[in-house]
Amino acid sequence: MSQATPSQQAAFVCPSLPEDAFATDVLAGLGRTPKSLPSVWLYDQRGSVLFEEITGLDEYYQTRTETALLGECAAAIADVIGPDAVVVEFGSGSSRKTPLLLDALVTPRAYVPVDIADDFLDGALATLARRCPGIPMLPVRADFTRPFHLPPQLRNTRGPRLGFFPGSTIGNFAPAQAAAFLAHVGKMLGPHRHMVVGVDACQDPAVLLPAYDDARGVTAQFDLNVLVRINRELQGDLPLDAFRHEARFNAGASRIEMHLVAQRAFTATVLGHRFSFAAGESIHTENSYKYGQTEFRALANSAGWDVERVWLDARSRFAVYLLCPATACPPAPLPPAP
Ligand code: AVI
Repeated sequence: MSQATPSQQAAFVCPSLPEDAFATDVLAGLGRTPKSLPSVWLYDQRGSVLFEEITGLDEYYQTRTETALLGECAAAIADVIGPDAVVVEFGSGSSRKTPLLLDALVTPRAYVPVDIADDFLDGALATLARRCPGIPMLPVRADFTRPFHLPPQLRNTRGPRLGFFPGSTIGNFAPAQAAAFLAHVGKMLGPHRHMVVGVDACQDPAVLLPAYDDARGVTAQFDLNVLVRINRELQGDLPLDAFRHEARFNAGASRIEMHLVAQRAFTATVLGHRFSFAAGESIHTENSYKYGQTEFRALANSAGWDVERVWLDARSRFAVYLLCPATACPPAPLPPAP
């Protein structure tokens, strides 16, 4: 690990991540109709850098809205959690919002960032370790969309555990997967658990669509990068210039979809397997589900969690939820709808 500090340990590589998972997913995804790929593969080193750039775009209101909300609610969250909590962040990426929480918590016992992109994990963690000295950092390299384990040092330890899942990444799961994830995480965090989840609300497509198809084309590069990755890592010959990024709003499913649309017919090879593309055919690369408060509470309840508190921005575009075990807290009244 580069630039390690004394409070930073080598990443625990979770055994649940099969080495050939990318190849398996790509061959299956390009072989089915309609073609699709799990969005987790968008995040290699370059994908993670491009996503960071997206978070600073004018059109991508989610990051700045959530950051402001976390700044407002971190002290109230810390009051509920109490001292000595282990903080586990799922899909930690740049860990840029993490100090908002770590600074507010009283003597956090450890910070456990879980991410699949380990180069990025190393760099982000070195920065965070300098920013929050004295907090042990126990990184886990894992695909958090599949069951995984906490680092061995934390097994059989007691005390409060706080899951942190900002950025509305929960929206990148289908609802049934999101419920399964919340239920799995609940078991992993144990009885003294809470969870902070950032959730993008369902709103006007005129606001949503530009957030996923920005004027500078950064999101298009982010989406197209998965093809670059397939060509590089899986001996592919997908013609990059034959694809165009498209964002679609699916009102029935309450989600934004990202697609890579073939502009002409061709065949391409990946790991020796041939795939045919018709003109106009797309590879569906990401779903980003949007939830109203009633829908998100129902989702959390179905996974053994209750909503203890919820904070919304003034335009009700984004919500930060504090979840507790379903039987442990009185259900919070929902703030008024916009
Ligand atoms: C990481 N995730 C919450 C982002 C989203 O908004 O669904 C990923 C993203 N895709 C395109 N822009 C941002």
